[in-house]
Amino acid sequence: MCGIVGYVGTRQVTPILIDALKRLEYRGYDSAGLAILTDKVISVCKTEGKIADLETKLPDMKGTCGIGHTRWATQGAPTTVNAHPHVSGNIAVVHNGIIENYQELYDWLKAEGYEFVSETDTEVLAHLAHKYYKGDLVRAVIEGLKKVKGSYAAAYLCSDSKTVVAARKESPLVAGAGKGENFIASDVTALLKNTRDVVYMQDFEIVQLTGEGMQFFDFDGNPVKKKTETIEWNIEAAEKSGYPHFMLKEIHEQVTSIHDTLLGRISELSGEVILGEVTLSIDEIKDLERIVIIACGTSYNAGLLGRYLFESLAGIHTDVEISSEFRYANPVLSGSTLVIAISQSGETADTIAATREAKTYGCHTLAITNVVGTTLSREVENIVYTRAGPEIGVAATKTFTSQLIALYLLSIYFARKRKKMDVDRSKRLLVSMKQLPGMIQQILNNKEFIQKQAKRFSNARDYFFLGRSLNFPIALEGALKLKEISYIHAEGYAAGELKHGPLALISKETPVVALATRSSTYDKMVNNIKEVKARSAQVIAIACADDNEIDKYVDVVIKVPIADELLYPVLTSVVVQLLAYSSADALGCPIDKPRNLAKSVTVE
Ligand code: F6R
Repeated sequence: MCGIVGYVGTRQVTPILIDALKRLEYRGYDSAGLAILTDKVISVCKTEGKIADLETKLPDMKGTCGIGHTRWATQGAPTTVNAHPHVSGNIAVVHNGIIENYQELYDWLKAEGYEFVSETDTEVLAHLAHKYYKGDLVRAVIEGLKKVKGSYAAAYLCSDSKTVVAARKESPLVAGAGKGENFIASDVTALLKNTRDVVYMQDFEIVQLTGEGMQFFDFDGNPVKKKTETIEWNIEAAEKSGYPHFMLKEIHEQVTSIHDTLLGRISELSGEVILGEVTLSIDEIKDLERIVIIACGTSYNAGLLGRYLFESLAGIHTDVEISSEFRYANPVLSGSTLVIAISQSGETADTIAATREAKTYGCHTLAITNVVGTTLSREVENIVYTRAGPEIGVAATKTFTSQLIALYLLSIYFARKRKKMDVDRSKRLLVSMKQLPGMIQQILNNKEFIQKQAKRFSNARDYFFLGRSLNFPIALEGALKLKEISYIHAEGYAAGELKHGPLALISKETPVVALATRSSTYDKMVNNIKEVKARSAQVIAIACADDNEIDKYVDVVIKVPIADELLYPVLTSVVVQLLAYSSADALGCPIDKPRNLAKSVTVE
C-alpha cells in the first residue's frame, strides 16, 4: 500500500502535493518523492524517510503541475533510489500496486536497451510509457499498461504538456474536481482540503487531468462518462474511509490484503507456488529435517497453524517457540534446521534476538514479515513479505491473515519441492485460496449479525474460545483479540483439553465461542460443545454454511462459506476479529490504541 497524488492547475503545486501526501502517510511512510513540471522540464526530488524528511530536502521547485508518492515498500528496500517517482526520458511515474510479470517485462525492456536504476517493479511502468510515447500520453499509458499483469494505481507526468494521466486496476484511485484545477489521489483524504467533488475510478479506467477539466477513457481509448460525487465526511473520518476505527477498516481490508499476498505467487495451471525471495535450493529444501518457528503474540498464533501445515503437507517436523523463551532455552539446532521468524513489524526485539541466536547454530533462516527493509529482514537469508500494507490499529488483523496465507504458500512450496503433494491437490488448494477474498466479503456482509451477538454477551467477565486442530490457533487468536481490545478476560483452549481443568470455570455466565467448521475432528468438537452446554454455557458456534445440525446444540451460529477444509482458519479468523471488535465497541473501549500496548515492541 502506497499513496499517490497528482495536481494540475494554477497554484504552486509543491505545497499542495506535500499536504496531500501527509494525509496519505497512513498508507505508507518509508520513502517519498515529487516530480514537478516547470517550463517543459521535469524536476524530481525524493528521499528515504517520511514526508517531513522530503520537505527538508526540497529545493525551490516552482510549477503548477506535478505528481507525488509516499511509499510502503513491497519490492526493493526503502532507499532514495527506490523511492518514486521513477523516470524514463521525458516521463515520470508514481505507482501503488504490484507488477506481477515484472521479471518478464524487465528482461524484455533491458533487451530493448532500457537501463534500470532501481530495484522496484514500478520502473517498468516508466519505461513502458516512454517506449510507447509518440506525442500522446494517454495512448502511451494504455499501450504500456496492456502489457502489465498485476495491480496498479499509477499517475504519469510528461515534460511535453501540462497534464497528469492516471490509470487504475485493483488499487484505489479517485479524481477530484476543482475550479481551474484538478487532482488525483489514492483516496479522498488527500483531496478534501481542496475539493469535495470526486470521481471514483474503476478498474481499466484512465483519466487525463488538465487545468480545464478531467477526461476519462477505457483501455481502448473510448471516452467514459463518470459521475461526480460529493463527499460528506470530515478529514478524520476519511482517513478511516468512513469506518469508526482503523481496526474495523483493516478487518474489511482483508478482502484486498489477502489478494495482494497471493498476487503473482500462484500458478493455478501448473499447481506451483512462486516465491522469488526464497533462495533455498531444492536440495536444501529436500534435506530439511526440522523447522522451528519463532514469534510473539498474534504472529506466534499464526506460527501454530504453520506447524500443522508444514507437518501435514510437507512432512517436515516443526516446532513453534515464543521468541522470548527460545532465546534462553539452549535450543538444539543444526544446519538442516530452518528457523522461520514471523513478525509483522520486523522490529520485535525478542524475535530479532531469537533469530540472531538461531544464526549462531548455522541453520537456515527465513522471515515472514510485512515491512520491507526492517532489522529482521536484514538478519535472514530468505523472506516472504506478507504485503498487507500498513496496519495502524494496535490489534493485528489483516496482517495475521496475510501471515496465514504466507504460511499456506510456503508449506505448499516445500510440499511440491519435496514431492509430498501431487499437482492436482496443489491446484485445487491454490484455486480455493484465490476464492478466499470473496468468501471474506460474504462474512463481512453478515457483520451486523455478528455485531449483535457480540453486544449481547459484552457484559461477560470471562470468555472461552475452543478449537481443535487447525482451528486451535484461531481459538488462541480470538481470545487474544478479545482480551487486548475489550479487556474481557478470555482463554483460548484446545477443546479436548477443557475437561482437564478449565471446565470448572464454565457456567451460564461464560460465553463459549466454538470453532466448529468441517474437519476430521468435527464430531469431537460437537461433543465438546455438548460438554460445555451441559454446564449451562452460552455457546456461539462458528460453523459451515451447510451445517444445519449444529443449531440444535448451541445458542447462536455464525456461518462461514464452504471452503477447502484446510482454509477455514482464515475464515474463522475474520469472525473472531469481528466479535472482539464489536465487544470492545459495545463497551466503548479505545479500540485502536488499547491501554498499555504498543504496535511494535522494540524492547525485551
Ligand atoms: C496482537 C498483536 C501482538 C503482536 C506481537 C508481535 O494483536 O499485534 O501480539 O503480534 O507484538 O508483533 P510482530 O508481529 O510485529 O513481531
